[in-house]
Amino acid sequence: MRFTTAFLLSGVLYAASATNISNGCNHDNCYRAVKADAFPTRPGTADCSSYFSTTIEQKTSTKVVRRVTFTITYFETTIPTHIPAYASACDGPAKYSSACSCIGVTPVTTTIIPTCGPGTLSCYGGPCRDVLSDPNNCGACGNKCGSGSCVNGQCSVPSCDGSSCGSLNSCGVDCLCFKEASNKGFCGPNISCAPLKDCDANGDCKAGEVCATSTCCGRNVCLSSCALARRSLASNFVGSRDVNEAWTGGAPPPALF
Ligand SMILES: *[C@@H]1O[C@H](CO)[C@@H](O)[C@H](O)[C@H]1NC(C)=O
Ligand SMILES: *[C@@H]1O[C@H](CO)[C@@H](O)[C@H](O)[C@H]1NC(C)=O
Repeated sequence: MRFTTAFLLSGVLYAASATNISNGCNHDNCYRAVKADAFPTRPGTADCSSYFSTTIEQKTSTKVVRRVTFTITYFETTIPTHIPAYASACDGPAKYSSACSCIGVTPVTTTIIPTCGPGTLSCYGGPCRDVLSDPNNCGACGNKCGSGSCVNGQCSVPSCDGSSCGSLNSCGVDCLCFKEASNKGFCGPNISCAPLKDCDANGDCKAGEVCATSTCCGRNVCLSSCALARRSLASNFVGSRDVNEAWTGGAPPPALF
């Protein structure tokens, strides 16, 4: 008995070393079944690849607590569990995984994070928002328009409706009321006209700017919101005030007749 046992043991060791034990593969019925199907005309390799494909997907859900909506970002992991029928000898995930490794398939983890197209942003990990028109994320995540209206990434300001050169109301320091091409009021900066782009419609201006039709520039110009303009153009103002005479909120252009 002892002898038989020892013989069997050495027989197993021999078989294992002959079939390559260096990669830790156990050439049992499970491995043979998987390998037999790992030919170009059969799905063995593809099945193993699918089995080894883990996906981690960023998802969001919303929860309303006391009328406030919270966006919750979480990651959902999907791990395939289907073992094909031809590999029934594999007796469980560990053996099937081992056999798949032994035919050279390696596990792959794919992380899927939603990407947002032009003009849209994922705010706080949430779904893509159209920040050109979303009044809760106007021009930037979390920029809420009191007016409920967002035009090309800029909040409409109803109290600025109806302004025109000669009667431009103030809406802050160096900020004046203008109206844009769709006739809504907004709060823009009193800045030099010279570098401003000509426009006919809001779409002619870059995101975050609207086509101002009521300035004192004598032409329609693309204007950013006042707060934004002061933040990004503050340094440009210094010095340029002396060289440019025309201002969006300057004196009305002289009458032609
Ligand atoms: C054993 O397996 C390893 C890993 O798959 C491989 O690199 C090596 O060439 C194999 N050796 C033999 C003798 O088949
Ligand atoms: C706009 O700025 C110019 C240049 O500083 C100034 O002359 C003009 O009075 C300002 N207009 C308004 C309406 O504040």
